[in-house]
Amino acid sequence: MSERKKVTLPMLFQKIEDGVPITFLTCYDYPTAFFQEQAGVDMILVGDSLGMTMLGYDSTLPVTMEDMIRHSQAVRRGAPNVWLIGDMPYMSYQPSVETAIRSAGRFMAEAGCDAIKLEGGVKMADRIAGITAAGIPAMGHLGLTPQSVSALGGFRLQGKGAQQAKKIIDDAKALEDAGAFAILLELVPDRLCKLITERAENCFIIGLGSGLDAHGQLLIYHDMFGLYPKFKPRMAKVFGKAGEIILEGLKQYVQEVTGRKFPQPENWFGMPDEEYNELLQMLD
Ligand code: KIV
Repeated sequence: MSERKKVTLPMLFQKIEDGVPITFLTCYDYPTAFFQEQAGVDMILVGDSLGMTMLGYDSTLPVTMEDMIRHSQAVRRGAPNVWLIGDMPYMSYQPSVETAIRSAGRFMAEAGCDAIKLEGGVKMADRIAGITAAGIPAMGHLGLTPQSVSALGGFRLQGKGAQQAKKIIDDAKALEDAGAFAILLELVPDRLCKLITERAENCFIIGLGSGLDAHGQLLIYHDMFGLYPKFKPRMAKVFGKAGEIILEGLKQYVQEVTGRKFPQPENWFGMPDEEYNELLQMLD
């Protein structure tokens, strides 16, 4: 077990300066956070995707601030040194700049986050500006933005046509000008991601299903290890079939308990004869 140096924003920008890609994963719980920190992951997102991966909802919309704070606290306890980003849930920032600043402040004060992320472009730039003016680093999120999945027509590629691609470039510029330290591009074509990455001057670009050219990559942890039973998106690579291993282990457990093969003496504690006999006498 090794103690890592605390990741800071200047360290992340230095990596980009040095041409070293940033590693970024979602995480929602203490033990996974511990492993991610040990593995050397730079940044963790406590994503509102936890609504689907951990709570079993069909979308991220039912997720509350209370859900996000509770999970962010657990992740921070497991990974004290990563750059921790709390994902602002649905309606925690859309109503007004003030709502956005108050919600962002909760991630910092109650969960020890280093930054927050919110979805949306030009229309959310004033939220990014307000949050950064309050001293809280803010990350933008463009392309496929799951909180707007209904308006976007489903979980699908964004920015394929020139018009829509230009709009995403304009959105990215607005977020950068508003003070975002980074922008996540989810499910946009690789060429569009490259154009935005090349244009970014004061922020860095993270890709999710958007090609190789971003300054860093994000993956959803549950997709990486086959832990989300409903589907595996094309943008995800499976790095290990943990879901299958867990399912096999669970089936074996059911078999062994049913067949009285578990537990074995090494799994329980005995009682000395004299104590046991004394106990029986007491019961008589
Ligand atoms: O909630 C989340 O995990 C996210 C990713 C889909 C980018 O926002």
